[in-house]
Amino acid sequence: MDDYVASARILIVDDERVNTLLLSRILSAAGCVHVEAFDEPEEALARFAEARSSDEPFDLVCTDLHMPRLGGVELIEQIREATRDDDEFLPLLVITADLSAEAEQDCLARGASDFVTKPFKATQIRLRVTNLLKTRFYQRRLSQHNAGLEAAVRERTAELEAAWQDVLERLATAAEYRDVITAQHTQRVGRLSALLAEELGCDRATTELIGRAAPLHDVGKIAIPDRILLKPGPLSELEYRHMQQHVDAGSRLLSRGRSRLLAFAETIARTHHERWDGSGYPHGLQGDAIPLAGQIVAVADVFDTLVSERPYKPAWSLSRALDEMRRLSGTAFAPRLVDALFAVLDAHPELIAEVERGSVHGPPTGERPPLETDD
Ligand SMILES: [Fe+2]
Repeated sequence: MDDYVASARILIVDDERVNTLLLSRILSAAGCVHVEAFDEPEEALARFAEARSSDEPFDLVCTDLHMPRLGGVELIEQIREATRDDDEFLPLLVITADLSAEAEQDCLARGASDFVTKPFKATQIRLRVTNLLKTRFYQRRLSQHNAGLEAAVRERTAELEAAWQDVLERLATAAEYRDVITAQHTQRVGRLSALLAEELGCDRATTELIGRAAPLHDVGKIAIPDRILLKPGPLSELEYRHMQQHVDAGSRLLSRGRSRLLAFAETIARTHHERWDGSGYPHGLQGDAIPLAGQIVAVADVFDTLVSERPYKPAWSLSRALDEMRRLSGTAFAPRLVDALFAVLDAHPELIAEVERGSVHGPPTGERPPLETDD
């Protein structure tokens, strides 16, 4: 005897008790152990619902067609409606004396799986029931197998993504390795960029991508020599031009990637020194010709640089940095980006506390304007 026949739960509905008894006997002889029979369709429906909610659902329903109060077609419809969201195939077998083609078509159209006419032979019932149960059994096995595969794929994808993220983080760290002062800078820029993207109404996926790609904005600094990168005083014209090349170097390093994350990182690396008024570099893009991700990281990068210590400047106080950001609204940055920064800081006092804890409010001597520092 097949396991799926012995373990199957079968519901029989027929208003004539003699039929339910006969069917129960046939199914029992076929090896079915869990058979429940009802001559009242409403009671059968109530039992069906109860079995589902107790996590022991029926595997097959055998129903008569013409019954007083609630007909077989209505019963089928109600069962199909109740199980509409189920993944599993639930076979519904109609057993009726109605031989008309309309009745058969009607039943099949409403969701019946198969149709047997009375009087029936025991073999007929046994074969139909066994086939329907086999279909349900294999469909369930397939679903379980698919669920297992999906879980395995999800796990592998998560592992790959984590490894991928690790590599990118290390790449960002490599770029700032020589500059211990900025050790936390890239991660803070990533966090603030994500908050800005969220504030500006980016969807969740874009917000996350910007947050993860932003730490790579200065990865091109890997190509800038220490004597320029770490120079404490002002840069010469030539050195400044050399420093600007970190944008091209970064965007070349990140170009032709096959993931959305790398595409965002490349855009950010290439455009985070453009300015709203067109006076930035490398392309002098203006206004919204600058990709939003680049605009966001520019704001986060400059703000974080202002409130942080650098070889050429002490950390600025929060109020001074905010004054500067406000002053740059409409020139370096789109006003709505600066507004978003203020809104984010209002909503996240922990960021302000962090700035105030880390700030070195020394005299602002020997500074370069932050927008020309390439941090
Ligand atoms: Fe930069």
